[in-house]
Amino acid sequence: TRVTVLLGGLSSEREVSLSSGREIAAALREAGFEVVTFDPGPDLGAVVAGIAATRPDVVFNALHGRFGEDGSIQGVLDWMGIPYTHSGLRASAMAMDKATAKAAFAAAGLPVAPHRLLEASALADADPLPFPYVVKPVREGSSVGVHILRGGDNRRAEIAATWQWGEIIAEPYIPGRELTVAVMEDRALAVTEIDTSRTFYDYDAKYADGGSAHTIPARVPDEVAARAMQVAVAAHAALGCRGVSRSDFRWDDSRPGAEGLVLLEVNTQPGMTPTSLVPEQAAYRGITFPELCAWMVQQARH
Ligand code: DAL
Ligand code: MG
Repeated sequence: TRVTVLLGGLSSEREVSLSSGREIAAALREAGFEVVTFDPGPDLGAVVAGIAATRPDVVFNALHGRFGEDGSIQGVLDWMGIPYTHSGLRASAMAMDKATAKAAFAAAGLPVAPHRLLEASALADADPLPFPYVVKPVREGSSVGVHILRGGDNRRAEIAATWQWGEIIAEPYIPGRELTVAVMEDRALAVTEIDTSRTFYDYDAKYADGGSAHTIPARVPDEVAARAMQVAVAAHAALGCRGVSRSDFRWDDSRPGAEGLVLLEVNTQPGMTPTSLVPEQAAYRGITFPELCAWMVQQARH
């Protein structure tokens, strides 16, 4: 099988994708696939011609963020008739837009926080929610543009003035703990707790050495772990995701049982270096990184 790994791309998460993609390419070669890599640039004609020239049986999509995770490249590959890994156009577009995804989760009875949508100009004028609250780009990943506002300092004006991420989603800040669950189609792998010494699990905590510590399985009550895994599978299904996804949660441990569990989002193109969260959970389940990548190739559809 010839596999073309798409990596890099045009988003703010380009560097993350380059590391995911290189590791995936190496793992797939190890698993016996014939592998080439392709880095999509801004010229769509060149992207289509470039992918076609590699004559792939399957495209392994290792892109993150805009154009790679939001349904754009998925639509191109659908049009070209090439099977690709991860979610299709519709699930990708829905998951990338946090407000759209939350509407689908709420309709499926899954626990999400309330939110407000606003433009940066409105953030300049007033606090959209009582403190503490979080502002995020509606359509970004890797915590790019995420800020927690706790009051006391006047960061709101500065954040609004320098905002470059389009529409803003504001949500109450959920105290407590950060959990994540990887899903392989209809199977949740495990619950990881993420600890960071930084203010929150921001870009540097995600990608700098020692930026965060992962505990698998998370030391949380069984009830909470079971609920997180159930919600992750249901969220994957609610969006119609395919292959691998990763659901991120906050858990307010001051509340009884699993009541304080809140689904933040589903990532349809989760980070895929061997030390990323999904491959870590796969390893915990006895699935090696090359085996995980090979499974993803087998799941590819268009
Ligand atoms: N957006 C990053 C790559 C993740 O969710 O892992
Ligand atoms: Mg994300």
